Amino acid sequence: MKFLKKHLLGLEGVPKEDLEHILETAKYFREILDRPIKKVPTLTGVTVVNLFFEASTRTRISFELAEKRLSADLVNFSASGSSLSKGETLKDTARNIEAMMIDMVVIRHSSPGAPLFLSRVLKSSIINAGDGCHEHPTQGLLDIYTLREKVGDLSGVKVVIIGDIAHSRVAMSNIHGLKTMGAEVAVCGPATLIPVEMDKLGVKVFYSIDEALEFADVINVLRIQLERQKKATFPSLREYHDIFGITKERLSKYKKEFVIMHPGPINRGIELDTDVADSKHSLILRQVTNGVAIRMAVLYLLSGREI
Ligand code: CP
Repeated sequence: MKFLKKHLLGLEGVPKEDLEHILETAKYFREILDRPIKKVPTLTGVTVVNLFFEASTRTRISFELAEKRLSADLVNFSASGSSLSKGETLKDTARNIEAMMIDMVVIRHSSPGAPLFLSRVLKSSIINAGDGCHEHPTQGLLDIYTLREKVGDLSGVKVVIIGDIAHSRVAMSNIHGLKTMGAEVAVCGPATLIPVEMDKLGVKVFYSIDEALEFADVINVLRIQLERQKKATFPSLREYHDIFGITKERLSKYKKEFVIMHPGPINRGIELDTDVADSKHSLILRQVTNGVAIRMAVLYLLSGREI
């Protein structure tokens, strides 16, 4: 089946058959990552520019490795040290880079909609690597891939996303993707960190961690994004940990084994304790490994190349 999409801007509205196609393609690339020589010639001659206007460890390295494993040519752009400091706009920056004959752009930006904007002013394929509080579609895809690997079909699987929902692009991509795959999705956190119209997305809302844990099979824990909060949304990080932190003691009250996920970076001892993050029920490092395969699949499918 030929993939007809040109951009990946978010998971909202992406049909199940397209998600399945990306996930199945990622399975093929995931197998390549276990080989002694982790490289295929699939994107030879394709040039990708990684435009990162915000900090990143996992996503930037994961995309870079995915591009290298596919034999693409790649260029990394960081906002610091660029001509943005001389007043150049995003549009001019992107159009000048495109004038050097590139094919695909991976963009992380603090402004929601920056990838959509680039898709309107460039001819290249655009992949959203996280835009403000909007979406982080490859994170959503790698979370879904990793969860399916663990539990199989996601129909009826109960996932609660706990923490700073209001500032989380990971939450939005997970909600859209998981619901399309048939999971039952809930969010939980302080009322000040949950958008008011959350139930309109068809997710349950819990303000009590005990009720959320009673509901859930899978816990996806999010970081408190202090850098995006314009005012205090709870009294202190210690109080947040006491009321919403995922601890071994809190989980031991239930007669079930929760699957633990976190997109990273983790603030250990705030939203998630070390003994839970590093327990045998944690998928956190598997999520990171699978992220490379997901990004290889997305790059390959959007390139329009056929193997
Ligand atoms: N999960 C994630 O996006 O991590 P980075 O910010 O390190 O890329």
